[in-house]
Amino acid sequence: MTNKLRYFIANWKMYGDIKSLKSIDPVIKFAKLSKKKKIKLVYCPPYTLLHPFFEKIKKTNIGLGAQDCHYEQNYGAYTGAVSSKMIKNLGAKFVIIGHSENRQKGENDLQINKKIKSALQNKLSVIFCIGETISQKRKKLTKKILKSQILKGLNGIKNKSKIIVAYEPVWSIGTGILPKGFELNENINFIRLFIKKNIKLKNIAVIYGGSVNPNNINILNSISSIDGFLIGGASHSSKKLIDIVRKSFN
Ligand code: PGA
Repeated sequence: MTNKLRYFIANWKMYGDIKSLKSIDPVIKFAKLSKKKKIKLVYCPPYTLLHPFFEKIKKTNIGLGAQDCHYEQNYGAYTGAVSSKMIKNLGAKFVIIGHSENRQKGENDLQINKKIKSALQNKLSVIFCIGETISQKRKKLTKKILKSQILKGLNGIKNKSKIIVAYEPVWSIGTGILPKGFELNENINFIRLFIKKNIKLKNIAVIYGGSVNPNNINILNSISSIDGFLIGGASHSSKKLIDIVRKSFN
């Protein structure tokens, strides 16, 4: 295992209500005890819980992020939307952009690029999600898709930008299926190198997402190129989340 900072990003998706706040108490306690470790734990609850989460974790070393933002940086006549400025105002420091569940709803690369730019303008760190579908994988198009998503999504993004790339094979999200170790290692290294060469972003963190849980975390941790994890389903359980982080440092 490397000595680099490792990210553990909890993506709650459309789950959680005000009562769920209590359930993260053990994680807060755990994070306090792990202060000296090179861990960055970030909660991304739904918009409705951003403020209560902020109040709950503002004095801790846990970060806060949103799950998406609008591409307009400020305010505008966009019913139902939330801008990166609003997210920043609430005290969040991160935002997930380009998640496959949004791409599947029709979000395109240009919109993703504009969202990333608006988030960076508002000094948010971006968790930029990329990944191939199962049919693209079967057609051996994985690298082509990754290249295209990177080039279009990060078009015009400058060095020093706060970007974390989350490689999430779509077929691995919520399915319990993990990519084979060698494939995952190859794709993670490919992403890092491709971004370095073509976008000129150096030392970019590349994390993995898709069915991460306490039972498979040891396998995933054996792939040293991974800088952390984007965790969906398992992150609703404080016990599982703590287990994942703990096993990443034993
Ligand atoms: P999962 O979700 O861990 O439930 O597979 C990951 C994600 O969608 O980010």
